[in-house]
Amino acid sequence: MAETTSPVKFEAPTETEQELIISGKESLENYIQKGSDAGTFDASLPPLEIPIIDFGLLTSPSSSSQELEKLRSALCSWGCFQAINHGVEPALLNKVREATKQFFALPLAEKKKYYQEDGSFEGYGNDKMQTLHWSHLLYLTVHPEDKRQLKFWPENPEYFRETLDEFSKQSEVINQILLKAFARSLNMEENCFLDMFGEQALMLARFNWYPPCPRPDLVLGVFPHTDGSGLTVLLPDKEVGGLQFLKDNQWYSVPVIPEAFVVNVGDQLEIISNGIFKSPVHRVVTNSERERISLAMFYCPNQEKEIEPANWLVNESRPRLYKTVKNYNRLYLEQHKLGKRPIEAALL
Ligand code: OGA
Ligand code: NI
Repeated sequence: MAETTSPVKFEAPTETEQELIISGKESLENYIQKGSDAGTFDASLPPLEIPIIDFGLLTSPSSSSQELEKLRSALCSWGCFQAINHGVEPALLNKVREATKQFFALPLAEKKKYYQEDGSFEGYGNDKMQTLHWSHLLYLTVHPEDKRQLKFWPENPEYFRETLDEFSKQSEVINQILLKAFARSLNMEENCFLDMFGEQALMLARFNWYPPCPRPDLVLGVFPHTDGSGLTVLLPDKEVGGLQFLKDNQWYSVPVIPEAFVVNVGDQLEIISNGIFKSPVHRVVTNSERERISLAMFYCPNQEKEIEPANWLVNESRPRLYKTVKNYNRLYLEQHKLGKRPIEAALL
């Protein structure tokens, strides 16, 4: 991880940082990775053979034990997979992508209406790290509905809100199907993870926008991290790749499959599964020619509830690895800002 010690306040210029750098008015220095992550990033790594899971097979009552075994192996070794045949209409996916592009393409003055406020992660802005990410983000709570802060929800394009609302509803169904299948893949009762997430599970939407970058060899879109979620369902760009996962100390690029979701385990599910499922380290490389967008839906246990390793996954041969934690999201943000790997703070 980058050796960062203090957060940087995101200020409001009239041109984006990226525009200032491209026109030579500002230096790229703050974006260049230092410490152990410094280096040359190669976007053309071997395509990652992350497993592909057929959602249709997971939802059928007699879902093939073969598909569940493939799922278990994906979660335990990679911590991620691409989900195809998930049933969300391509038209809705395209609408979400269009809304994302249109929002980020707005003049900065318009986007400023939704700026992150001090002390809150919600809204439009930038990850508050010392080495900056070559990306802009829009972070919104979508579930429970009474936790939504509509002042951060764009009204432009005008179909943004209803599209996100519709996509959130469908994402929730997807998340529930996934958690049931995850439990079944370990031969556990299908609701056991869902129950641990609770009635008021939290769902956050993070829209990412990566403008073209003059030095993809030196600058990252998002630097290496694990997600603080329980699980993440990512709608990636339809055409432009950039997401990479680390496995056995090597980076692998995720191939573009236009209608697939990229699903990965987050820290909270690693904790609940007592380390059986891996929360994988991933990053995003930049592209000198094309912009890229993505939407990550983070599904997290109810933050009022404590989380801990499920007791049926703790035994003599697999001793308990993690503490009981409450409000992991807060712990994650604090540690992440310091450039630390958050889950280490939860180790026993
Ligand atoms: C994230 C993330 C990946 C991407 O938002 O946490 O890892 O492809 N995004 O944008
Ligand atoms: Ni991530």
